[in-house]
Amino acid sequence: MQIADRLKKIPPYLFVELRKKINKAKAEGIDVISLAIGDPVEPTPDAIIEELCVRAQDPENHRYPTDEEKGMFAFRREIASWYGSRYGVPLDPASEILALIGSKEGCHHFILGCINPGDIILMTDPGYPAYRASILMGGGEPYNVPILAENQYLPVFEDIPSDVAKRAKGIFLNYPNNPTGACATREFFHRLVDFARQYDVAVCFDNPYSEILFDGQERLSFLMAERAREVGVELNSLSKPYNMTGWRIGMAVGNPDILAAMSKVKENTDSGIFNPIQYAAIHALKHEAANIDNMLQIYKRRREVVLETLRRIGIVFKPPRGTFYLWVPVPQGMTSLDFTDILFDRTAIVVAAGTAYGRYGEGYIRISLTVPDGRLKEAMERIEKAFT
Ligand SMILES: Cc1ncc(COP(=O)(O)O)c(C=O)c1O
Repeated sequence: MQIADRLKKIPPYLFVELRKKINKAKAEGIDVISLAIGDPVEPTPDAIIEELCVRAQDPENHRYPTDEEKGMFAFRREIASWYGSRYGVPLDPASEILALIGSKEGCHHFILGCINPGDIILMTDPGYPAYRASILMGGGEPYNVPILAENQYLPVFEDIPSDVAKRAKGIFLNYPNNPTGACATREFFHRLVDFARQYDVAVCFDNPYSEILFDGQERLSFLMAERAREVGVELNSLSKPYNMTGWRIGMAVGNPDILAAMSKVKENTDSGIFNPIQYAAIHALKHEAANIDNMLQIYKRRREVVLETLRRIGIVFKPPRGTFYLWVPVPQGMTSLDFTDILFDRTAIVVAAGTAYGRYGEGYIRISLTVPDGRLKEAMERIEKAFT
């Protein structure tokens, strides 16, 4: 049996490898604590679940959602209202919003909708690994744009060689950034729009952490920038703000032509999203802002616990102000992999090596705060004991 060549180019997905490592250790009876994966452990708020259950009883909702493949109009209208109230961004639900099965799906359909085989697509290094996979599956050529601490982990467009920029047809960016936690600025958005206009590059601004912010960081959407919707789309998701990772529900907003292309891919792939999930998402966007505030308090507390422990073992750094990850420099003289291995051997704690996100991730590990308080405390006690 033949397996497609395009799949051979894709490196094994980071979390699949991590899960194998964790499962192997657990099978040996080791009490492993994983701080590697960004998946909230707190449940989805009850009222969202109740809305799903009620809507699932209605046979009208058991059929293909085909007459509204872009997403139920009521859901798109609610997304418009959410973007209006949280970001001050007006959106037309008819042409500027597409419902998605999570923002990850949007990355993939952006490529299938906008890119031809052989096109260069820019992505940051370090960067979310799914971008590379989508680019490769679409026959594109990924080009890594370094994002470095000295530039606040933002790309420097002038450093992209002009022959590369001329061949580039798309760019993936994600701020608040996974893995570094860095946030963008309004000024950066202007530079991004200028770059995209100069080289006719379609922007896919992936924003699923738009609500996970600390220390007074301003809530930002790429579409706040003037002319942004002429050049790109923004992806967002209910996964992180409403603890709904498993529900698979999100949205793409912005440029109508790009959205129409992505929608055509979707129409021919999945026929839309189960209506009760969309009703539940409407409820979340409309009524569950308190969950976001509550989660931010929890992450803030955990962030402090980790930073305090790291300080005590001599790892001192100023963390950026977004996401529920900490991008932690490893001790001098060690590589990311050395440190993850030593950490695992001495404490049975799993973290993500920075190099899993690209070569410029060397020298860092990523710690996720999506673990129960008690387990995080236990993890920090183990680390302190092992490294002091
Ligand atoms: C940068 C980035 N984009 C997209 C996703 C996927 O989110 P969703 O659950 O909305 O598909 C993640 C999940 O971790 C992420 O970190």
